[in-house]
Order: sequence, then structure tokens, then C-alpha cells
Amino acid sequence: MDEFDPLSLFSAAEPENPLTIIPAFVQSCPQDTRDAASQDDSDTEVFPIHILDMPSLSTKPPAAILLVLLKLLAPNQQYNFATKTKNLSTDEILVTRGLTLAQLEAVLPWLSAYAPSLSTVPQLLNLSQSAATLLSTPDFMNYITRIISSPLLWIDEEDVQSIQKEASLRLSENCGRTAQPEIIRQITLEGLEEKTGRKNIVLKEPSLTADNLGLKTWGSSLILSQRLLTEFTCKSKEDGGRVLDEPVLELGSGTGLVGMMSGILGYATWLTDLPEIVPNLRENVRLNELSLVVEELDWSQPQGYEEKHQQQTSEGFMTILISDPIYSSRHPPWVVSMCSRFLRDCPTARVYLQIPVREKFEAERANLWRLMEVAGFETCRSELEDGYDDFGEQLFVFKEFKRA
Ligand SMILES: C[S@@+](CC[C@H](N)C(=O)[O-])C[C@H]1O[C@@H](n2cnc3c(N)ncnc32)[C@H](O)[C@@H]1O
Repeated sequence: MDEFDPLSLFSAAEPENPLTIIPAFVQSCPQDTRDAASQDDSDTEVFPIHILDMPSLSTKPPAAILLVLLKLLAPNQQYNFATKTKNLSTDEILVTRGLTLAQLEAVLPWLSAYAPSLSTVPQLLNLSQSAATLLSTPDFMNYITRIISSPLLWIDEEDVQSIQKEASLRLSENCGRTAQPEIIRQITLEGLEEKTGRKNIVLKEPSLTADNLGLKTWGSSLILSQRLLTEFTCKSKEDGGRVLDEPVLELGSGTGLVGMMSGILGYATWLTDLPEIVPNLRENVRLNELSLVVEELDWSQPQGYEEKHQQQTSEGFMTILISDPIYSSRHPPWVVSMCSRFLRDCPTARVYLQIPVREKFEAERANLWRLMEVAGFETCRSELEDGYDDFGEQLFVFKEFKRA
């Protein structure tokens, strides 16, 4: 059967630590969290957190307590892929959770009486830093589920709704990427700031549905973007480095990292994808304050695109960028046909292609290389590289093609 089963991409990762007790946090506590601990007059020690440290619902925690605890359990902002998360400072924890120090301090008296292990600011920050590990345990997931299913009769209706919304978010965030709500992923690349003056690239990823894979950023695009940044000059710097030939076309841009990297380096770039992916792609180009062409281009029926852009289609593109386009047996012939149609017939025109080496798609990859050869493309470079996706480490293959 040709249809793509998205689950065949994923390897279900075991929780790092199935116990509810996590290792002591003090050693890995960010500097300013330790500073906050040392400034606190009461208890300066931070202990591992256990489910019994959380206030029991039978103690009728007020709305403010439940909201602060649930917000502290929110996941860190995504930096690149899950394996490269960053330890956040106190300010970053508070800002990303929508909390203030005053709100934390306001809940301490109640917590001292009913949940003493969480009754200092450092202990609350520890809860936040430990959230990912804690929420991978059944006890914490059950705790969140109990909050959702409780009528919370001692709390105002309006506050109950806010608590249940926050608790539901924590549950869905911990049910794997395919069940997660919208996220903003921050991409940091080596040399980005020095070369382009930008600290990072932001990518909005809406809640996923099984067949809209372009709404997630894939590991392949991070590696290809890093390559573009490392190998090619930033046009505005005129440093005499290697130039990417323009115009540039990206096929199947998804959330747009690769095409935007080319645009950030100053090259005239067209980002394309299926109609259902293009609105979010446009939004990402806007979020990064870029002015690039974003268009619908369906590899199985490119006529609509060709009619709309007749001149560009007949002139062709000097560079084609493609990241992770193969997840069905129909994709190799489509991708090769797009390269044949849209790459200019010129000795310096190039296709740069990055593909994850997924075990179950060996036949599709082999078919892609064979069809590229049949269509008259010659491999100039072929390299294997290690990288990451949300699911862990992954091997990738990079290929550069030219017309033979
Ligand atoms: C696995 S995702 C990779 C997305 C992005 N290039 C990245 O690496 O993050 C595959 C992409 O190919 C796009 N795609 C799949 N079939 C397509 C088609 N027939 N025409 C155009 N794009 C297609 C998907 O919408 C999706 O954006």
C-alpha cells in the first residue's frame, strides 16, 4: 500500500526515569535560581520532588495555588529539537509561564501550611525545571487527570475553567508531539548571529493532524539550514565567500526553516508547499520579518503554479532546496519531476537535498537516486551526517546534484 503511516517515522521513546523521584536538582540549578535560594530567609535547600509533595485536592487548594503549580509544570520553550533544550533562568521561567515573582510569593503562605516541600521560591522553580521528568511519570499524569475530573466545588466557576484549561494543556503536551497544542520553536544555529545579526529563527507549529506533516519542523531542515549558513556567504556582507545561485526554489517547505535561511542570507527565495501548509508558512515568514515569495505548489499537479508564474517557470531556478520530501512511494517520481521542470538548464544550477535515513524507506530512497540519474542528474556530493529530530538521534544523507 502506498499510503504513508506517520507512526512508522516515530520511535516511541521510553521515559528517561520511570520513578516518581527525580535526582537532586541543586547541582544543575541555574546560577540565578541558586542566587534566589541563597537570598531566601527560610529554607535554602531544594529537594527532589515526589508526587506526595503536591497539595492533595482534599485540602481544597485555592484557585491561585492550582494555577501557579500547573503553569510551573508547563514545558520549556522548544530550542531546536527536544534533545537540545536549554536550562532557563528564573526570569525566563517566569516569563514563559506567564507568572511574576509576586505571584509565586503570594502562594507561599498557603503552601507552607499544606505542601511544605513547595513553600519557597527556589522549590517552586525546581518544580518547573523538573517538569519534563515529573510529567513523564504516571503519578503526575494521574494528579493532572484528577484535577481535570474534579468539580473543584470550592472554586469559582470562572477559575475552574482556567484551571481545567491549564491542566488539559499539560496533559496534551505530554501525549507526544502529534497530540500537542501549537508551539513556537526557537531555532539557534552555529554562527547565525555573527553572520546575519539574528539571534534565532522562530517557527510556529500548529497542533498536528496526521496528514499535515508540513506543520512540524523536521530534523533534516535543521541540518540543511546549518549547511547553507556555514557554506554560503551572507550577501549583504560581501565577504567574498561562496554565493548561492539565484533565484532559489524550496520544494515542500513545511514550516519554512530552509527557505527562510536562504532568505536571511539575502538570496531571492521562493518557498512552496501544499495549500493546507501555505498559511502557516506565510505566518512564519512574517514572524521572522522576511519578505519572501510563498506559493502553493503541489508536486502531483503543478499546473496551477505554472500558469500563475509562467515567466519564472520558463526561466527556471538556479538552486532547488529540498528537505525530507520522501515518505510515500509516490514522492520520488514527483520530486524528480519537480527538479526536471524547475531547475534551469545551466551547468552551475544545483539541487541540494537532505533526507533522513529512515529504515522503512530504503526502497523509496533507492528509487529517488535511480530516478534522478534517469532524469539526467549527476551527484556532485553525497555525505552522511548525524542529527536530531524530536524523536532522538537520526542519520541524514545530503546530496548535491547538477544536470549531467
Ligand atoms: C516531512 S515534511 C518536511 C517539511 C520541511 N521541508 C522540513 O524539513 O521540516 C514533508 C513536506 O513535503 C510536503 N509535501 C508532501 N507532499 C507534497 C506534494 N504533493 N506537493 C507539495 N508538497 C508536498 C509536505 O506538506 C511537507 O511540508
